[in-house]
Amino acid sequence: MVKRIGIITSGGDAPGMNCAIRAVVRAGLAYGLEVFGVREGYKGLVEDDIFQMDRDSVSNIVTRGGTILRTARLPEFKLESVRQQAIENLKKHGIEALVVIGGDGSYMGAKKLSEMGINCVALPGTIDNDIASTDYTIGFDTCLNTIIDCVDKIRDTTESHNRCHLIEVMGNHCGDLALFAGIAEGVEMILTPDHPIPDTEVFSTMRGYSERKERKRALILVSEKLYPNIHEFAKQIEDETGFVTRATVLGHVQRGGAPSAFDRILAARMGAYAVDCLLAGKSGICIGLVDNKLVDYDIYEALALPRDKHVSMLRLIDNLK
Ligand code: ADP
Ligand code: F6P
Repeated sequence: MVKRIGIITSGGDAPGMNCAIRAVVRAGLAYGLEVFGVREGYKGLVEDDIFQMDRDSVSNIVTRGGTILRTARLPEFKLESVRQQAIENLKKHGIEALVVIGGDGSYMGAKKLSEMGINCVALPGTIDNDIASTDYTIGFDTCLNTIIDCVDKIRDTTESHNRCHLIEVMGNHCGDLALFAGIAEGVEMILTPDHPIPDTEVFSTMRGYSERKERKRALILVSEKLYPNIHEFAKQIEDETGFVTRATVLGHVQRGGAPSAFDRILAARMGAYAVDCLLAGKSGICIGLVDNKLVDYDIYEALALPRDKHVSMLRLIDNLK
């Protein structure tokens, strides 16, 4: 049976990662395992930045955003020779299994390590909600609440000035943040990769709002990477319609902050379940929450699933106009 496990956070950080780290450490210790933290994701594995953790290593961290283990991106980890160095470092510490908290890129690294003999279980830690094998990723709910706070404020000034305002949110090719935030705010338009709208339709819709006598304002939620430059698109709207238009890119404010209760509980459940999976000898898998039940998938199968889990919510956009 496995005796020593490691834990890393990798890729973009997400609120709730600390709660997942705590759950893995505490559950591991409760089962009599020795738990090791790795700093800065796969970089720390390759550079042997590995240290033993105890109960106190994770006390008082559930309220903190970011990740106490810090995180990094290491493109070279795609090379087998670089991963081999990581395997040697893990073996040196007697670590036979690893919990990886990150997004789909980190999942690939975990799968490859599993194929090289280290049992890995991956947890979905990303604000993007772009992992199809789980209804929600750790960090998504907190990020959504941050976006809502910002849009509430932008709404006030947009209303006062009779303007149109574009708000660009993160998501990395996944429209869930824009879609959920847009529905929560009841905005006038939502533009996401799953729901692109021709520019001409955006212009005519905004012209309609600008010509109203009352409630002459419009908020538009936009997924990042949909437009090369959101400020230029705002100018285009203004030029085409005469509707004074501003754009705000929310940026990295979306990645920080204390995790929401939902993310804390999700992370705690998933972290403890990951340890159960490692003790059951599972490897190369990822944990998800589907219909409020914890599930595990083979990582390749998870990454091949269609990313349409929330697509039915798109209907709400039209129904609630
Ligand atoms: P995220 O995990 O949030 O999706 P990235 O896509 O940047 O973030 O991936 C995080 C890290 O995972 C990368 O920097 C790299 O070290 C590792 N990784 C990504 N893709 C692969 C792959 N195909 N094989 C091995 N490691 C990978
Ligand atoms: O994957 C999380 C994420 O915040 C994406 O939404 C965004 O596209 C990207 O990471 C930003 O990465 P960086 O922090 O490297 O600018």
